[in-house]
Amino acid sequence: MSPAGQGTGTADPTAGPWTVLRVIRTGAEWLQERGVESARLDTEHLLAHALGTDRLQLYLQYDRPLTPDELGSFRPLLRRRGGREPLQYITGRAAFRELDLTVDPRVLIPRPETEVLVQVVLDAVAGGADLTALDVGTGSGCIGLSLLVEGPFRRVLGTDPSADALAVARANADALGSAADGFEVRRGGGFDPLAPDETFDVIVSNPPYVADGEAAGLQPEVRDWEPAGALFAGAQGLDVLDVLAASAAKHLRPGGWLALEVGPGQASTLKTRLDGSGRFASCAIHRDLSGRPRIVAARTA
Ligand SMILES: C[S@@+](CC[C@H](N)C(=O)[O-])C[C@H]1O[C@@H](n2cnc3c(N)ncnc32)[C@H](O)[C@@H]1O
Repeated sequence: MSPAGQGTGTADPTAGPWTVLRVIRTGAEWLQERGVESARLDTEHLLAHALGTDRLQLYLQYDRPLTPDELGSFRPLLRRRGGREPLQYITGRAAFRELDLTVDPRVLIPRPETEVLVQVVLDAVAGGADLTALDVGTGSGCIGLSLLVEGPFRRVLGTDPSADALAVARANADALGSAADGFEVRRGGGFDPLAPDETFDVIVSNPPYVADGEAAGLQPEVRDWEPAGALFAGAQGLDVLDVLAASAAKHLRPGGWLALEVGPGQASTLKTRLDGSGRFASCAIHRDLSGRPRIVAARTA
């Protein structure tokens, strides 16, 4: 029997008890056969989750045989990952900068490049105080909540057309207690949830930016599990970014910042549109941790 509880033929039934190390090794092999990247790391995370411990603790008990109950808790988790369900949806948790967030299929799993987007904003507003921010398409709330926790912000409004996403963002804010005082949510797309004269010091967004035709090329974890409304934005993937670029300036105070995460190949298009609007005094492209141009930040005069 495999660590997933199915006969895969990969595990040697004469190899003795299912110790922590044996479960990790054979579980990782089983996931790898199913095309899972980071198979070993994910197996460790899932086993730690099943045992109610952390990964480092596993290393201290490699030779310990698992009890039938422990194996019974772990096996369904491994099977889910083998079906290409994202690790974070299985554990229900996602790490983002200083936050440990609740996530489930109602929201996109926060990405490392979005951590850089937050850093770009924090660097831009360093030295400020009592600022306000609008986080368009807040999803799990990862951007807006990070700004409140780490930056000089007194109020952040997170918007999203998805009521389901807003429920997750609200839960994440509530879990942070007083650190997230000042976080509000409002439902709607683009700038629809705002009053015409409502302005902010910062508008930040990681909107949907995948072209509709690119669905087939996505990893199963993304295509089959993450919300389509968080991913796709028209033929070029620019439908939401275009709305934000066209109307952000009128919702920014003088000297305010617009910071957008964009898809691969979209940064120079966005910069051209923002420069061409005549509403911004400066506009720069920033790179993510892999050196790809994925963030566009512009400042009003
Ligand atoms: C790529 S996800 C980003 C979620 C979160 N901010 C993050 O960085 O992980 C995009 C989010 O934008 C929302 N969204 C979709 N269409 C939108 C629109 N027209 N205006 C604003 N937000 C939109 C989606 O529901 C989703 O929560």
